[in-house]
Amino acid sequence: MSDVLENPVSVAAGAAPVSVRAADAPPLPNQPLKFSLYFIRYYWLGLSVMILLEAGQAAAPVLMSATVGRLVDSMRAVEGTITSANVLDVMWSPLVHFALLNLMLILCSRTSGSILVIIGPALRARTREGLFAYLQHHSHRYFMGQFAGSLANRITEVATSVNHALWTVMFDFWPVTVSFSVSMYLLFKAHTELAAVLAMWTMVYVAVSFLLARRCRVLASDFAAARSLVSGKVVDAVTNIMNIKLFSRRRYEREYLKDYLQMEVMKARKTFWFMEIMRWFQFLAAASLLVGMVMYAMRLWAAGEISMGAFVVVFGLCTTLVNDARGLSRRFLEFFEYVGNINDGVSIIIRPHEIVDVPAAPALKVPNGRVVFKDVTFAHKAGVAVFDGLNVTIEGGQKIGLVGHSGAGKSTFVNLLLRLHDLNGGAIEIDGQDIAHVRQDSLRANIAMIPQDPMLFHRTLKENIRYGREDATDEEVLEASRRAYCHDFIQDVPEGYDALVGERGVKLSGGQRQRIAIARAMVKDAPILVLDEATSSLDSESERYIQQSLDDLMKERTVLVIAHRLSTIANMDRILVFDQGRIVEDGSHEELLKRNGLYARLWNMQAGGFLPE
Ligand SMILES: Nc1ncnc2c1ncn2[C@@H]1O[C@H](COP(=O)(O)OP(=O)(O)OP(=O)(O)O)[C@@H](O)[C@H]1O
Ligand SMILES: [Mg+2]
Repeated sequence: MSDVLENPVSVAAGAAPVSVRAADAPPLPNQPLKFSLYFIRYYWLGLSVMILLEAGQAAAPVLMSATVGRLVDSMRAVEGTITSANVLDVMWSPLVHFALLNLMLILCSRTSGSILVIIGPALRARTREGLFAYLQHHSHRYFMGQFAGSLANRITEVATSVNHALWTVMFDFWPVTVSFSVSMYLLFKAHTELAAVLAMWTMVYVAVSFLLARRCRVLASDFAAARSLVSGKVVDAVTNIMNIKLFSRRRYEREYLKDYLQMEVMKARKTFWFMEIMRWFQFLAAASLLVGMVMYAMRLWAAGEISMGAFVVVFGLCTTLVNDARGLSRRFLEFFEYVGNINDGVSIIIRPHEIVDVPAAPALKVPNGRVVFKDVTFAHKAGVAVFDGLNVTIEGGQKIGLVGHSGAGKSTFVNLLLRLHDLNGGAIEIDGQDIAHVRQDSLRANIAMIPQDPMLFHRTLKENIRYGREDATDEEVLEASRRAYCHDFIQDVPEGYDALVGERGVKLSGGQRQRIAIARAMVKDAPILVLDEATSSLDSESERYIQQSLDDLMKERTVLVIAHRLSTIANMDRILVFDQGRIVEDGSHEELLKRNGLYARLWNMQAGGFLPE
């Protein structure tokens, strides 16, 4: 059994290998580097130009230092023979050189900046788009196990981190590499030993920075975890603001938060202290390099091994190098953080898709709407089967009521019909076609589902109703709205059909939301209708409206209604009574009452109210 559960698709699709990705989902890699390159490669041309420009920009200051050296040497050569009138004529060549380098610096940096303006936002958008496209194909089970808000955050965070990681490489690591290489080249030309000392220093510096940053990364990610824990607590508290008000727990909540904030402060200090230590290292290393090099170069100058110009160049190069290097450990740290973010997000989002279409799956065709469950075996968790060899046939056009105690398996039954989960054994057929072998989109296009607590998009009422069918005309939307008894209350809203419904539809009453969901199902006009009846009691007027609109909707379709109030299904063609995953009774209301079994007991207990738990 556990084998089967590990691999639900293979059983449903007759031992076909588990596909890891839905066919129309982007083939995103799940390693941070490959993942980033997947999106970055679209911009290779612009990025290649940027690499050149950044190299130019990084080389310019180094070359400027060298030019200043030439200037100094030329000035020394002509010292005493020169006047303010002819100085520019004599020195024009290094001066023009100097000016051109400045011009090159500006052009390189600003052109590169312009390309960034074009590529940056596009890269971010493309990454988000790709992640969202991939995420959409995950199964119902996957989404049940994740917080919507946290998934949305991860998409944003991964996209931002791919951007930032790329720019850290382009604008920090790459330029430092270039300016270091050019400096080394110039220095080796000037004096080999001097260059070797500087090269050694740089290597040690980079290695130590890298190690310190790696150590700091652990602390920083602890700190980040503490921060997100605090945010989670705040979100939970804000979500529960009604409870806080109703129980007058404002002070309590502040105290509760304080403990977590205190922990965040401790983690923050630990991280920041370590960063301070890193800065001590940087400042000391920089100072010793500058002082050491000046002394060393001065001795070389005194010994006549280098010119005064070369002395100036050495000082200039060291200053540039120190400035570049100063930011490096921080950049390493940030870079690790970005890579960590990408890794976290990718490991959660880029998982194998659980429920995928078989290759070249045909579309489902529903001429009659006959539904057959054949030996259906299913378990949410290994070892706890909800259904074990369930068999039932629902004829096309039949109106079926599903009843049973809470947890009996009614919702699971309709979820399986919608293929929100794959079976562990057996098959479900609609008009002779195994639903595991047709396209999921076509399956769900043929089933209209009105859930217990319908969710609406925070979009206009019209858009929400039209969601049933993309190409529904305004006239069809209005017609459905009238038939679902929505039209009247929508007319009373100032913006009418263009009113926004609030997040998840909170601005509507439960009954109104349900009627919008019914209108949406009417627009969809699918041959099979599934209805999970609302458990919340509606006032009798909205209930009557809803009942009327439903009666209208049910005509000429196969209908499955999960009923909590038995009165609403008493006139169905047939009632299936579920008990612990088995259908224990099957028949019309009258037949079942005559049998005097579970249904009759439930009916008698109900006395016009709800099913007992
Ligand atoms: N996502 C899930 N993960 C694990 N177990 C689940 C999940 N959903 C349902 N179950 C379990 O499967 C069994 C059937 O649940 P189901 O939701 O189908 O019952 P139901 O008849 O619809 O109940 P209710 O009348 O309360 O809606 C229950 O034991 C339930 O705990
Ligand atoms: Mg249910």
